[in-house]
Amino acid sequence: MNPADLRIDVDRLVERLEALGEIGAVHGPNGERGCARLALTDADRDGRDLVVGWMHDLGLSVTVDAIGNVVGVRAGSDPTAAPVMIGSHIDTVRTGGRFDGNLGVLGGLEVIETLAQHGVSTEHPVAVAFFTDEEGARFQPDMLGSLVYVGGMALEDALGVRAADDEAQLGDELARIGYAGPMPCPAAGAPHAFVELHIEQGPVLEDEGVTIGVVTGVQGISWTELTITGQSAHAGTTPMRLRKDPAYVAAEITAGVRAIARQMGGTQVATVGRLELVPNLVNVVASRVTMTVDLRNTDEHLLQHAEHRFETMCTRLAADEGVTIERRTLARFEPVEFDERMIDLVDVTATRLGHTTLRMPSGAGHDAQMLARVCPTSMIFVPSVNGLSHNIAEFTELVDLQAGADVLLQVVLELAGPVGGGSP
Ligand code: GLV
Ligand code: MN
Ligand code: MN
Repeated sequence: MNPADLRIDVDRLVERLEALGEIGAVHGPNGERGCARLALTDADRDGRDLVVGWMHDLGLSVTVDAIGNVVGVRAGSDPTAAPVMIGSHIDTVRTGGRFDGNLGVLGGLEVIETLAQHGVSTEHPVAVAFFTDEEGARFQPDMLGSLVYVGGMALEDALGVRAADDEAQLGDELARIGYAGPMPCPAAGAPHAFVELHIEQGPVLEDEGVTIGVVTGVQGISWTELTITGQSAHAGTTPMRLRKDPAYVAAEITAGVRAIARQMGGTQVATVGRLELVPNLVNVVASRVTMTVDLRNTDEHLLQHAEHRFETMCTRLAADEGVTIERRTLARFEPVEFDERMIDLVDVTATRLGHTTLRMPSGAGHDAQMLARVCPTSMIFVPSVNGLSHNIAEFTELVDLQAGADVLLQVVLELAGPVGGGSP
């Protein structure tokens, strides 16, 4: 078969998605089937073991690096050529779905299996990678493994990060689950190119009735943790004018960042995703609140404007209520634009395969935004039903999985250079 006519086996892809999704499976009351595999937990280890097993079954040479990134390589005909890398992540948020990240990794394995099945070799090696702690739900920043991989964060700093939930140290957890590998990180050489297949995680493709999102870049991300300290007091006896109430300030900030986003419009979004009160009792004015604010924009200047307004608001609220507000940056990444030729390649390939396409920026963070620092990079999006993600109801239709993985296969073939005509 002409390599340009090769297509992936979607049933095989779904079988792997289902098997991986069973590890850390979360079942909802209405038949939702999600996943909780927070980075470097036992469930993450079990998921890693399963995927590494599949890599070995496919004859890939598998390496694990010092931050736990796993890369499986299928050799190419040119031993000096850098690999075309397909990659994403298999960790999930606590209320995650079965597709976020997993599709990019298992889509990569499906590409490899399709090539092997049809006897197609490539000039460049083809690598499939999954990166540690993409989600950033347990250890911040997000995209931590790929960030270290490209030299954007020192390995020692990353190993020293403490978990948001139980204060466990990342390096200890990595060793505990057996994934503190011997390969150096940052990686010695850059891939020839990097391609990530991912669900859109938003409603745009479904809304527009388009199958393939041609991702032009990733919006900037700003994560801040606030610790608001006031005065714990009796809820019945303390007059309102004498309170220093961090719960009230947290509520003002929650409403305030939403107002900033609404006033700015465009792509500006703002989210308070975590909020913890101490002591969290009905009749006690809280003494302390810890909360997070997630601000994102496709435009760096506008993102800075949002950050500035947010900071000004915090300063004013602290003075008005008599509380202190400590700010700690958890993640800060500027917007990223992908390589023009790589964007075109995705668009042209999807169109050749008969799919409708839409050029769009990514609202979510991805490992691809880190790899874009070191090699030509692009992403392929497929629709998310009802635009849902980071939700156990996350779902993508079979026909869209097939389309996305076929585009991935053909983009990779174009980049890696097929050398075998293939068997029928
Ligand atoms: C990572 O998945 C993010 O965009 O929060
Ligand atoms: Mn993801
Ligand atoms: Mn995610």
